[in-house]
Amino acid sequence: MNTYLESLVRERQPLIHEMEQYANEHHVPIMELVGIEAILQILRIAQPKKILEIGTAIGYSALRMALTLPHAEIVTVERHKQRYDTARDFVKKSGCSKQIDILFGNALELEEQVKHRGPFDFLFIDAAKGQYKRFFELYSPMLSQNAIIITDNVLYKGFVASKIDTENKRTNQLISKIRNYNEWLMKNPLYDTTILPVGDGMAISKRRGD
Ligand SMILES: C[S@@+](CC[C@H](N)C(=O)[O-])C[C@H]1O[C@@H](n2cnc3c(N)ncnc32)[C@H](O)[C@@H]1O
Repeated sequence: MNTYLESLVRERQPLIHEMEQYANEHHVPIMELVGIEAILQILRIAQPKKILEIGTAIGYSALRMALTLPHAEIVTVERHKQRYDTARDFVKKSGCSKQIDILFGNALELEEQVKHRGPFDFLFIDAAKGQYKRFFELYSPMLSQNAIIITDNVLYKGFVASKIDTENKRTNQLISKIRNYNEWLMKNPLYDTTILPVGDGMAISKRRGD
């Protein structure tokens, strides 16, 4: 089904293709095509003015969001130096440097730097899967009232919904952490959340009204 959906996706700009190819060749995990298209459609509907992304990698999703919403500002955080440098190069090449602010460092330690760039209308969590709850708790207070939070990889290759363990202990621990996060998020009284089996699974959370 995924291949069929991918075959229907509109042709992308040459630079976007170049980034997809780079990610593939260098084994950099970027959003799956159908997953990013779903996020871009949510952005078109929600029209956020400021977006915060945790996990830039090479800037693929940040750039796709920037090209989809040319008037939105994007702040994105990456702790891997080489990926950060590559993201900067790609963003420079795209001409979107003024729109995308890439911060280098561990998102768990950049609270202050991020805070004064907010408030944000959209939070995209796409970094270390074992830390999702901490990212959510740290950055959700920096959001505007009607903000949307999307967490990627919440079904992690289908393992999260499977009853059978993998043969890898670390993977099993990670799966267990994602399950705990999903349960915590679904029960969070401040947010309405739905999990969609799109891409690697995405949780869409919306703050409840007062
Ligand atoms: C899945 S990739 C992000 C992909 C990107 N959002 C895209 O679709 O183009 C996750 C990235 O998060 C980064 N990362 C993981 N934990 C982080 C943390 N605590 N702070 C900052 N970056 C982090 C990793 O180095 C990795 O490059």
